[in-house]
Amino acid sequence: MLFDILTLFPNIFDGYLSESLVKSAIDRKLIDVRRYNIRDWSADKHRKVDDSPYGGGPGMVLKVDCVVPCVEDVQVNVANRGRLLMMTPQGRRLDQKFVEELSRERRILLLCGRYEGFDERVSQILQPEEISIGDYILNGGETAAMAIIDAVVRLVPGVLGDEYSSLCDSFSAGNRLLEGPQYTRPRVYRGLKAPEILVGGNHEQIQQWRAEEAVKRTEQRRPDLFQN
Ligand code: ADE
Repeated sequence: MLFDILTLFPNIFDGYLSESLVKSAIDRKLIDVRRYNIRDWSADKHRKVDDSPYGGGPGMVLKVDCVVPCVEDVQVNVANRGRLLMMTPQGRRLDQKFVEELSRERRILLLCGRYEGFDERVSQILQPEEISIGDYILNGGETAAMAIIDAVVRLVPGVLGDEYSSLCDSFSAGNRLLEGPQYTRPRVYRGLKAPEILVGGNHEQIQQWRAEEAVKRTEQRRPDLFQN
């Protein structure tokens, strides 16, 4: 699977792409991540990519004549044009169902904004799917793009080791419950004991206990999920 990230700050992704699961997925060629600096498409001699909004008001708007050529060039350099996602707090809210859908794509383009957002004509021309990761305002779409990659990558076959399956993840198609509590050594810490049942070795009982705890936790913390 190929991710193309279009951003004004490609270096923001350095640490993220060079650690842990994502690094290993790249090393094993299960995914490829390419970064493009939108500024490279600026026609301006000062490499300007933004301008003040028509009609006045605070902040700067990303220029349509940088963003559109950038996306179009990136789209043509691979046979599959891919699925174009624009990061914006005004978009459709990301959820696990959409993540599952994305994990079946061969190519995803992530368009990251900064400042007050994109000139409206970017959306009119490119018709991206506008995606939000929640009802709060980030400084830019880069962290939203990372969240999307992070969620999608774990569903790409082979990325997670055999010891762990994403099928059991909360919010996945087969599981609408939160996970119950987990424990590991030491058995007792500051007087708090790990539940006896987990160290008793009876797998049937353990499964039963975990299922009950998942239900309890979901009921308490996310009654909205529980009702569904
Ligand atoms: N850009 C700024 N805020 C955002 C959000 N909540 N989701 C996606 N992109 C954003």
